[in-house]
Amino acid sequence: MSNKEKTILIIGATGYIGGAVVQQAVKDGYRVIAVTRSAKEDTRFLGAEAVVADVADPASMEQLFNHHKIDAVISCLACRSGLTEDFFAIDYHATLNVLNVGKQHGISKFILLSAICTRKPELPLQQAKLLMEDELIRSGVDYSIIRPTAYFWVFDVQTPMIEKGRPGYVVGSGDQAVHNPISKEDLAEFMVDCISDPERRNRIFVLGGPEVDGNVVTYKESLEMIFKQMGKEPKISRIPRWVAMGLIRFSGFLGLFFRKPGIFSLFLKNTLYYLENDMRAPGYGTMTLQQHIENKDREIETTQTLRTIKE
Ligand SMILES: NC(=O)c1ccc[n+]([C@@H]2O[C@H](COP(=O)([O-])OP(=O)(O)OC[C@H]3O[C@@H](n4cnc5c(N)ncnc54)[C@H](OP(=O)(O)O)[C@@H]3O)[C@@H](O)[C@H]2O)c1
Repeated sequence: MSNKEKTILIIGATGYIGGAVVQQAVKDGYRVIAVTRSAKEDTRFLGAEAVVADVADPASMEQLFNHHKIDAVISCLACRSGLTEDFFAIDYHATLNVLNVGKQHGISKFILLSAICTRKPELPLQQAKLLMEDELIRSGVDYSIIRPTAYFWVFDVQTPMIEKGRPGYVVGSGDQAVHNPISKEDLAEFMVDCISDPERRNRIFVLGGPEVDGNVVTYKESLEMIFKQMGKEPKISRIPRWVAMGLIRFSGFLGLFFRKPGIFSLFLKNTLYYLENDMRAPGYGTMTLQQHIENKDREIETTQTLRTIKE
């Protein structure tokens, strides 16, 4: 079967990685259906069909699969709020819902975006992801599970503040962990290739970006790259670990009563986890963090969780 005869359903299509996956699948000649929560213009969907549906609702998914003969599903679904219950509702239950309905309708492949950090699970996000990985492996549907390292935007979040003259912040030394981040384009290419590559059938891939100079960095080094690119002397402020832990505990306590401090606490906990655990993985792709930072026209992206905290 050629690519143009295959229909690929992409869930989480409006996200950072999902948007890149839609573009890559269209480029590779597949018929692409991008699932969205509401009808809104998205230039990344050019060449794809955008369909409004509720991934968490079996009836809504049933309707979608009845209307379209889907060959493969790519899931880039991910919790936006940062709340524990939402990780389980989206990364696990909603994703499983789509798998179950897809299986009844005879899909031949399910590609799941997971995360490298599932190998040392301590956080709700990782537990929800592992539950979904397990369901997929036991489902009988052909699968590829991709556990990527950190994304480029993670290293770029402080750029707007640094531009305004503020320092870059690290917790502790900022050199505790080494990363080889992956660009969304390289990750999307790898995920879409899983549809047809028999070598990638029923396997879990831990995936990083190229293991070359300019892409193997500590968080502190990534900040130094940003300062250098702006022609500024690096100004790095170290937040002691005990202060970060105190903030996590205090906001976690407030989170028992209010939503925002709860999100902030979990966000800080996730951030600290990523700062303190190596995220090295076998390298794939071509784009380096250095090239990304050198691109002055790049879009500075962030997550809904951070936007909610800042609101
Ligand atoms: N950040 C990192 O460095 C990193 C590293 C490795 C792995 N990961 C993993 O990558 C994933 C995040 O990918 P991303 O950055 O592309 O995510 P993202 O930009 O936050 O996108 C999340 C997608 O899920 C959809 N979604 C969320 N809640 C939904 C709901 N209730 N109903 C329907 N759709 C919903 C969103 O739709 P809307 O647009 O409608 O909200 C969006 O399409 C996470 O699983 C994370 O663990 C992240």
